[in-house]
Amino acid sequence: MSDNKIPLAGVLGMPIGHSKSPQIHGHWLKTLGLAGFYIPMEVSPSDLSEVLKTLPKMGFVGVNVTIPHKEAVLQIADLVTDRATLIGAANTIIFRKDGKIHADNTDGYGFIENLKFGAPSWQPTAGPAVVLGAGGASRAVVASLLDAGVPEILLTNRTKVRAEKLADDFGKRVQVIDWVQAGNVLEEAALTVNTTSLGMIGKPELRVPLDGLRKGSIVTDLVYAPLQTKLLAAAQEKGCHTVDGLGMLLHQAVPAFERWFGKRPVVDSATRAAALR
Ligand code: ATR
Repeated sequence: MSDNKIPLAGVLGMPIGHSKSPQIHGHWLKTLGLAGFYIPMEVSPSDLSEVLKTLPKMGFVGVNVTIPHKEAVLQIADLVTDRATLIGAANTIIFRKDGKIHADNTDGYGFIENLKFGAPSWQPTAGPAVVLGAGGASRAVVASLLDAGVPEILLTNRTKVRAEKLADDFGKRVQVIDWVQAGNVLEEAALTVNTTSLGMIGKPELRVPLDGLRKGSIVTDLVYAPLQTKLLAAAQEKGCHTVDGLGMLLHQAVPAFERWFGKRPVVDSATRAAALR
């Protein structure tokens, strides 16, 4: 790409209409006064490889990938970061100047940054974390919590074998708890995280009994539609500190934007407002 070309980025998924990433990146491009565009692109799994190889020729400097491409992209990329390999999924692609496709996962970074901003009192070493769910999002959360120094993760998932596989991949600090026992371990948690889709608009509610949530502990939900989930409302009533899931989406976009467009954006109330528009 010649240096005076306008850099392009975007998000590949199917469906893609719901994505908030175009609003987030568009807001930063505008407020930072940068030339560039970020667009949503609906791409089917069978076209993913060809599309990724073509986009750099059109001026794209990188893309985000979302459902259903986050795992498949690892097979297509020339370089995959260690954390994306461990998580088994990537969300950020960089088209390097040497022609190589580089895949990374910034979800765990976004999760931790959101916690740090939303619950500044959180000390990773304060005690165990209870993580509900063992899907792709859970793997990013577990990786980042272990990295941050959380001593123990109590992991619970409806489909137990999926939690057991995750624990096998991540080592002894991850203990699997039966899904029906989830409510009984909450009192041990310094941090409780919902990584399942339960509680999201259009999905069933999370039915884990929440009486055990400890006053003063931190509770966060990856679900951000609605912003105030029933889990967060119940946690607030119990005197927990709560952190909603929108911030994770905003913070995971920061390192990608910086690599593509050359300036590090700030997550502030205007960014939140842009994502909610
Ligand atoms: P993501 O990438 O967002 O994590 P995913 O990999 O499809 O998406 O994982 C969805 C998570 O929500 C899983 O933990 C899933 O549990 P299963 O592994 O048992 O499927 C959880 N989940 C979705 N619907 C659920 C339901 N009705 N009851 C309990 N857990 C559910």
